[in-house]
This record gives sequence, C-alpha cells and structure tokens, in this order.
Amino acid sequence: MASSDRSSAPRPVPGSYGLPVIGAVRDRLDFYYFQGQDKYFDSRVERYGSTVVRINVPPGPFMARDPRVVALLDAKSFPVLFDVTKVKQLLFSLLQSRKDAVVPTFRSNFSALFSTVESQLAAKEGGNKVEFNKLNDATSFDFIGEAYFGVRPSTTDLGSDGPSKAAKWLLWQLHPLVTLGLPMIIEEPLLHTFHLPSFLVSGDYKALYSYFSTAASQSRVLDTAQSLGLSREEACHNLLFATTFNSYGGLKVLFPGLLAGVANAGQKLHSRLANEIRAAVAEAGGKVTLAAVEKMELVKSVVWESLRLDPPVKFQYGHAKTDMQIESHDGVLFQVNKGEMLFGYQPCATKDARVFGPTAREFVGDRFLGEKGKKLLKYVYWSNGRETENPSVDNKQCPGKNFVVLVGRLFLVELFLRYDTFTAEVGTELLGAKVVFTGVTKATSGPGTA
Ligand code: HEM
Repeated sequence: MASSDRSSAPRPVPGSYGLPVIGAVRDRLDFYYFQGQDKYFDSRVERYGSTVVRINVPPGPFMARDPRVVALLDAKSFPVLFDVTKVKQLLFSLLQSRKDAVVPTFRSNFSALFSTVESQLAAKEGGNKVEFNKLNDATSFDFIGEAYFGVRPSTTDLGSDGPSKAAKWLLWQLHPLVTLGLPMIIEEPLLHTFHLPSFLVSGDYKALYSYFSTAASQSRVLDTAQSLGLSREEACHNLLFATTFNSYGGLKVLFPGLLAGVANAGQKLHSRLANEIRAAVAEAGGKVTLAAVEKMELVKSVVWESLRLDPPVKFQYGHAKTDMQIESHDGVLFQVNKGEMLFGYQPCATKDARVFGPTAREFVGDRFLGEKGKKLLKYVYWSNGRETENPSVDNKQCPGKNFVVLVGRLFLVELFLRYDTFTAEVGTELLGAKVVFTGVTKATSGPGTA
C-alpha cells in the first residue's frame, strides 16, 4: 500500500454475499449463464464503486468451500495475492514482542488449573475423578489471550463463554473432518455433505471478534499490523484465526496428548522428569527461567516424542507445483503431475519403523536424548516441516513452532514442580486424547514444595 493512501482511514470492503445459499446460487447463475464471467465482475465493480469487493465466487453450494471472497480486481491490489508474508510477519512480530510474557502468564494460568484439579479431587462428590480437557479448554483460551495481548478473555464481555464460542466456530471450520459419534445417516448429510450455515455461528464470531479488536488495539498489535501495510480489520480477522484456530485449537489437543503419553509412561519417567526439572529450577535460584527450561533435555525429548507419536494436525494437503517424481521409503519412484492434490497422513510417516526402529509405535520418553537421538529429529514433522528447521516468512512451516515446544515444556515443568507422580485414565474424544485425573502425589522435594 502506498504511503499516500494511508493518510485516509481504512474503510470496510464494500459488497454483499446476499442470503446464505440463495445468494451464492443466484451469483453462480449470473456467473455461468445470465452475465458471463467478465460482466459478472465488471457489473459488481460498477455497483459498489470499488475494485476491491466482497462477492461470492462459483461453484459455491454444495460442492466447494465457502464461496465468499474479497475479490481484488485492479492491478494495484492484486499483487497482495502473491504475498502472504505480511500476515506471517505480524505473527512473528507478535510472538517475539510477547516472549517475556509467556513464562509468567503460563505459570499463573496453569497453576490455577492444577489447584482446581486438587480441590476437585479432594471433593467427595467428584468421585475422585477430574476431567482435564474441560479445565484445559478454559485455561488455554485465557492463557493465549493473556500471553498474546495481555488481556484474559474471561475478564472481558466474553466472560467464561470464550472457549465454547471458539469450539463452536472450530466445529464450523473442521466439521468435514470430524465425527461426533452420531449415526452415519445423520452425520453424513449434517457434517460431511454441506457446509454448516455460517449465520448460525456469526453471533459467536462477532463476540470473539469484538474481544480481539479491543485486546489487539489495547496491546498495539493492530498498530504494528498497520505499519506492515495490513488494514486493522484484516489484521483482526487474521489474529482471530491464528489465535482461535491455530493456537487454541492446537493447545486443546496438544496438552491432553502430552499428558496422556506421560500418564501412560508411568512413575519411573515421572521421577526422572521431576529430578531434571527441580535441579534446573534450583540452579536458576528457584525460578522458572527460559535458560533453565533450555537445560531440561529429557523434558524436551518427551515433548517431541508426544508430538511425533500423536501429531495434533494429522492431515496435510498440497498441490504439486510442477511435474515431479516422489520416492517412497521402499525406493520406488512415482510420477506426479503438476496440479495434482497431494495428501499426507502424518501419523503413518512419523511411526515409520525404518526410521524409529522396533519401538516406533511406542512412547519412548528419552528417544531424542544424546547424539543418536538428535539425528532422529529431522523425522519429526508435526509443524509442517522438519523439527530441525525453522519457520520463516518464506515457508509454510507453523510460525508457532517454537512457542508450541516451549509451552509443552512449561506444562511438564508446572506438573512436576507440583507433583512427584500422578495417575489418570486415558481415552479419546473428538480431536484427540481425553484425560481424567484420578490422583496426584504432591512434591516431596525441590522448589515445588516451597
Ligand atoms: C499444538 C499446536 C500447533 C500445531 C500442532 C500446529 C500445526 C500446524 C501445521 C501442521 C500447520 C500447517 C498447515 C498446513 O498448511 O497444512 C500450521 C500452520 C500454521 N500455524 Fe500452527 N500449529 C500449532 C500452533 C500454532 C500457534 C501457537 C500459532 C500462532 C502463531 C500457529 C500459527 C500457524 C499459522 C499462521 C499457520 C499457517 C502458516 C502458513 O500457511 O504459511 N500455530 N500449524
């Protein structure tokens, strides 16, 4: 965006999507039959007096994803399509600027979670069982809001409804991929054939948007976005997506998966973790510092092992950019043509026994320790890239990669500063593991007892 344009305040993109379904079907008929392609776009540019307009693009219902787009119909705006880096730059700058807030906000939010676990375990009516996932949803949502913007969503107008609104919106994004356990005859038409109507979730989206708009303004993130050439409105939608879908959606699955793996690994691993964590924290003067966390090699290995065995995002898609050959692990070459859609199911790739040996399907906490262990890291793919590589504005690797491995480690630190060991029942739910605490043994040594 040229600096001369910035002097005028950004305005909303004009246009209309019409009524759900009916609007898109009408537009499709215009596009294919009544107007033809060129006229379809030209007439809308004329109608709204703007070359950047909100319109539906065919095919729309019921075949394609959401038909609603912001269409860029002039030579100046169009090149934005070539450049996804502004949004990424914004996320890198956000994570970098909030680096120092992560440890204290993590600790305050998650120590409150564990206090709740303890009091609920002590209360007889709970039957000595405490569901971790529900507590994690509420805590992770608040933690992310506070870590990124300094404002806990539960203290705003959203109140305690943030996680449920976010989960509903997530379901609207992910329903083609999930099953709710209902009979197939109901689920197929409901979840897998059509997109759920967006007006049913628009109230939830608006409430979330309002939180992001206020919190990101207060924390000046939207000022940064503007200085990168993004409009405040566009930046806010992107922050909502990165925070709710990528970050909250990620932590909703990451922590139960990690806890499940560690619970099943048993007491021996628990005491090794507790010893390592407490020694490093004691050495740092009783404080959980980033430097202390860096020294915890076993902790890091356990987080990687969990991400290897149970990657939170299991499917990957990509178009072949050129005609290419793909080699399988059996040494077979396959021809793939430009434009073909490639699809990967990650759990298969990261449990390959030819890389991870006979224990490939097992949780081995210390797998990545030492020189030999480090050599395996390049086969850990959870971030849409190798664990030995780093995300940048030029690649499609998860920009939250380092943040995720850090919070995974902080989770174990909090757990084993507090407890010598714990027991839990492990099952599965919609998107990953379900964990129910059945008992915790308070720490008998180290800084956690202070
Ligand atoms: C456990 C947590 C997380 C997991 C498992 C995860 C995983 C992934 C994966 C697999 C992708 C690639 C998707 C694809 O193109 O196929 C991705 C992309 C992305 N992630 Fe994460 N992520 C997590 C947390 C985060 C966090 C905390 C952020 C916050 C900044 C984030 C931001 C993004 C963004 C913006 C992309 C799109 C990158 C691009 O297409 O260029 N993620 N993530």
